[in-house]
Amino acid sequence: DGRVVDHAVADLSLAETGRHQLRLAEHEMPGLMSLREEYAGKAPLAGARITGSLHMTVQTAVLIETLVSLGADVRWASCNIFSTDDAAAAAVVVGPTGTPDAPTGIPVYAWKGETLEEYWWCTDQVLRWPADASGSTGPNMILDDGGDATMLVHKGVEFEGAGAVPATTEDDNEEYAVVLETLRRTLAADPQRWTAVAKGIKGVTEETTTGVLRLYDRMRDGTLLFPAINVNDSVTKSKFDNKYGTRHSIIDGINRATDVLIGGKVAVVAGYGDVGKGSAESLRGQGARVIVTEIDPINALQAAMDGYQVAVLDDVIGTADIVITATGNKDVVTAEQIARMKDKAILGNIGHFDNEIDMAGLARTPGVTRTEIKPQVHEWTFPEGRSVIVLSEGRLLNLGNATGHPSFVMSNSFTNQVMAQIELFTKADEYPLGVHVLPKVLDEKVARLHLAALGVQLTELTKSQAEYLGVDVAGPYKTDAYRY
Ligand code: NAI
Repeated sequence: DGRVVDHAVADLSLAETGRHQLRLAEHEMPGLMSLREEYAGKAPLAGARITGSLHMTVQTAVLIETLVSLGADVRWASCNIFSTDDAAAAAVVVGPTGTPDAPTGIPVYAWKGETLEEYWWCTDQVLRWPADASGSTGPNMILDDGGDATMLVHKGVEFEGAGAVPATTEDDNEEYAVVLETLRRTLAADPQRWTAVAKGIKGVTEETTTGVLRLYDRMRDGTLLFPAINVNDSVTKSKFDNKYGTRHSIIDGINRATDVLIGGKVAVVAGYGDVGKGSAESLRGQGARVIVTEIDPINALQAAMDGYQVAVLDDVIGTADIVITATGNKDVVTAEQIARMKDKAILGNIGHFDNEIDMAGLARTPGVTRTEIKPQVHEWTFPEGRSVIVLSEGRLLNLGNATGHPSFVMSNSFTNQVMAQIELFTKADEYPLGVHVLPKVLDEKVARLHLAALGVQLTELTKSQAEYLGVDVAGPYKTDAYRY
């Protein structure tokens, strides 16, 4: 349509290599590709203006082009300063038929290694749309991972209502100060900006545990502004991506960052939820002796039953060769604990935010120095000469040091995402203000779409068996309480 594709990516000349990677990823993403087939010519997302904030990887590129093939308009930013694959970002902007000189794809604002200021500028840019017929310059849908885009809109509305953006920051948080500055700037230019944007949004679909937590918080305190679908708690998301995806990508990140032999080493995994289970299994698979820490007795017992030693971090921090946080909580490894780690031990986080490891406290440790080994790998040396290797500055290491989860598992997650976008956009009356999960039949459908590629032969219930179990032959097969 001759529209200029506005964008801010590293280098459009990477589009060709990015396109090749997308083409191979499509082969590994049967769920997304079959949605493209199922909805060919039907355009269920026609009229949707989707702002996406989710790691701009090769797999996400296939998600974006699936949304577009279903009729949506899309603008995209990454949800982490280190997680963009620059070739994938270039391929999405250039599009399947464009050239670097004449891109015809999708506006993307993301590159690997953004500053915090650049990150929040990008997030703001993808929430700014050319005016539609009704004059709206915002999205009507958000697709979020960790909730940053949703948070910017909500905080904007909150401060508009209060008449001012606060000058001080909570907890001295450097990143929150940048959020406040971004909101100050946008509200100076347009004092009603965020109320107008929020009014146009039909809903958000949220990818991850941490983002979902933020949505339930808002629901509880009555500040949620639009309906949400919790994609994370589809079984075919959290029990696959968080676990099997992590099982693949955690050692990929550690290996690319350090190339240290994992076998025989002592590895501590903090948190034995879905991500912790995948992390622990992965490290054990390499021959590490894995120790788990937990605060929840159920998860602690699970870890013990799975054969792991369960300890408290203080008791084992001094003997660990590798320490990984996978909790989604804050202050899990303190600066004081880092100072007690073994010489050249490796410290990394695979939870969503960078507050699991107290990086700010580490930087304030008297006499400590930081040496860049290579981007996203830093050696922190203490005055007495011992040093610790920190991955991705405490941000999720599988995306900062490697390329995140592989395509096949992300196809499961993103098929849920696309279905959630279709549900919220086309059946708004079925999803009132609140946080919803997808119906189980859709969860089962996502799994079904991935069986053939693995040669899985599914047994079919007979009618009398189905009656005996009290389910339908076509499913759903389990009650909502079933835990898999
Ligand atoms: P989860 O809730 O299943 O597991 C977290 C576990 O950490 C819980 O069992 C909890 O009891 C435990 N925990 C909390 N505080 C702790 C502490 N101080 N010490 C030890 N254990 C503690 O959550 P899930 O799904 O495993 O996600 C964890 C984090 O990983 C979240 O931030 C999520 O958003 C993120 N995530 C990252 C991915 C990646 O690719 N890097 C993929 C999926 C999720």
